[in-house]
Amino acid sequence: MRTIASHRLALRPWRDDDADFLLDLESRWEVVRFLGAHPTTMRTREDALASIARRRAVDDPVHGIWAITTAAEDRLVGNLLLKPIRRSTSQADTGRDDVEIGWHLHPDAWGHGYATEAAAAVLDDAFRRGLARVLAVTDPENHASQAVCRRLGMTHLGRTTRYYDTPNELFEKLPG
Ligand SMILES: CC(C)(COP(=O)(O)OP(=O)(O)OC[C@H]1O[C@@H](n2cnc3c(N)ncnc32)[C@H](O)[C@@H]1OP(=O)(O)O)[C@@H](O)C(=O)NCCC(=O)NCCS
Repeated sequence: MRTIASHRLALRPWRDDDADFLLDLESRWEVVRFLGAHPTTMRTREDALASIARRRAVDDPVHGIWAITTAAEDRLVGNLLLKPIRRSTSQADTGRDDVEIGWHLHPDAWGHGYATEAAAAVLDDAFRRGLARVLAVTDPENHASQAVCRRLGMTHLGRTTRYYDTPNELFEKLPG
């Protein structure tokens, strides 16, 4: 998985020695509460290591799951993903493979524009590599994440149950 740089950030593959940070991040209800239809907090370092192995296993020229770090201090601040989105069970066999972008950051790193900066860098990189469209889905109550979508210039397409078997606000970004 490649590294992607922006003005203040470096996005790089997750490493085993990030396990303590990942556990700290994903054991927090305020971080995971809007992630998926049935969010759960992470409990153990073993779970963090297993999750890191799955993140590293993404093998694709465009998709990835990156650790977001600050360029100046090499400090971990969160997670950024670009990957095929899971359709709802009733929609499993319909249409093309849509790609989603997603983010979650440590609360200590909220309010600095890092999620927007990291996502903008990944979108630029993906469109340069030929991706034709990127989606984002957010829980209807997740106003912070919807604000990130708007800062990224994503178009709000309304509410849908097409993904993850749950109602979500759907956003779309096209190249250019
Ligand atoms: C969603 C989430 C990543 C948003 O984080 P965020 O820090 O609010 O988002 P951004 O990176 O866009 O930062 C914007 C904020 O930084 C501020 N900011 C400070 N310095 C800035 C700078 N140099 N550039 C841009 N914004 C800056 C903005 O004013 C804005 O603050 P505000 O919300 O008080 O108006 C965060 O709330 C989170 O991790 N939530 C839990 C996980 C989650 O729900 N993920 C999404 C699932 S769909």
